[in-house]
Amino acid sequence: MTKRNTLVGEIDEAVLAYTVGDDPALDLRLLEADCIGTAAHVTMLASLPLDPPLLRGPERDRVVGALVGILRAGRAGKVTITASDQDVHMAVERLLTARLGALGKRVHTARSRNDQVAVDLRLFAKDALHALIADVSALARRLVLFARRHADWPMVGRTHLQPGMPGSVGLWASACAEDLLEDTALLRGAYALNDRCPLGAAAGYGVPLPIDRRLTARLLGFAEPVTNVLHAVQSRGKVEAAILAALVQTMLSLSRLAEDLIIFSMPEFGYFRIPGQLCTGSSIMPQKRNPDVLELVRARCARVAAQHAAVVGVMHGLPGGYNRDLQETKAPLLEGLRTTHASVAVMARLVGALKADRRALLAGFRPEVFAADRALALAAEGMPFRDAYRHVRAHLDDLAAADPEEAIARKTHLGAPACLGLDELDGRLREVKGFASRARRRYYAAVGRLLGVKYPALTGGSES
Ligand code: ARG
Repeated sequence: MTKRNTLVGEIDEAVLAYTVGDDPALDLRLLEADCIGTAAHVTMLASLPLDPPLLRGPERDRVVGALVGILRAGRAGKVTITASDQDVHMAVERLLTARLGALGKRVHTARSRNDQVAVDLRLFAKDALHALIADVSALARRLVLFARRHADWPMVGRTHLQPGMPGSVGLWASACAEDLLEDTALLRGAYALNDRCPLGAAAGYGVPLPIDRRLTARLLGFAEPVTNVLHAVQSRGKVEAAILAALVQTMLSLSRLAEDLIIFSMPEFGYFRIPGQLCTGSSIMPQKRNPDVLELVRARCARVAAQHAAVVGVMHGLPGGYNRDLQETKAPLLEGLRTTHASVAVMARLVGALKADRRALLAGFRPEVFAADRALALAAEGMPFRDAYRHVRAHLDDLAAADPEEAIARKTHLGAPACLGLDELDGRLREVKGFASRARRRYYAAVGRLLGVKYPALTGGSES
């Protein structure tokens, strides 16, 4: 059996390949987070009043300068993670040691890959989540705008997809917006859970050195450190599952919106029109304008749900402490975040370009759509509701077509077509947007201070 020499000794080639799995590719996406986490770690080490110091101030500056260089090289596509690196953590240590010699060999003091990968994933998720929350709120605001523009456009309300009662385009669109608003609450919950720093937990049992975990957390812009070092390491996987659960909720909202648009933009309905450039064609049927985007949103919702299930599957029954199983929660998290964000962004384009057709919407109002309203009118005149129901049911053929616009104008109570509360919805969505941009600004400012360059631009400062 051939053996491969790694930073941590020789490993059988086949075992190395199997255990490394997809990490060399996946971990490239964590390069930025790994360098930032390492910069905070060495800054903390250099701040400790020890004699001899673990790292001196100027040494810290050289390490951080080299990390900025690695970040820039990474953005230029010039960093690769090899199988003998195993993962991004040892690739960065190898690159630092190549640039800085013996100094590079000091950076791993008082940490382990277990807290390192945990902090990388939390930094990655933090950055991804505030961007996602901002974009979900932007999509929801587009839906509110659509609702405003079509507030008094009647649309048949359906249950079981069958015609039910008079509804409106405004009602439909703002329902989708409120759905997404609630998703942001879950995303923010996941954000808060994720916003605690595991760094310094090392293998999960702490280190016999007086490290300052509060300082590391602060340097990285986290709200606070995870307190218990064992919990810091074994909360990995559960945090991922919580984030993915919020992503699934978001994808469910998108998938319902997508499915409604697929149905109601069919020529047989024609309520909505998706502009041609957002549809795809057929290689044989020249007339086709297919809503492929919406179909893929529907399918990708299922995939994100499967990614959540995959993480829960890996986690269930795991013993305490670090277990290599945890590596398998990485791909579902990264993929779930990427898929959800891309889906939200593409749906915002679609909603922004969506057209409604008033005539087609009105054509859907056959007299039976007013049956329940008629029964309720009789009840308002004093007839017991059940008698009114029976009466209307017995005389369905005599139902007169009513005016759909008048019908929705009469629904004036909270949340009904004539009282959608769009201003309140907009206000809540503005608050969400404010949260997301404050979170982003705080994080980027912290990283910029730490690295001594503008972040995320990586401009200014000096590189060694
Ligand atoms: N690639 C590994 C992971 O994702 C890094 C941590 C390895 N730690 C270890 N004790 N083998 O979990």
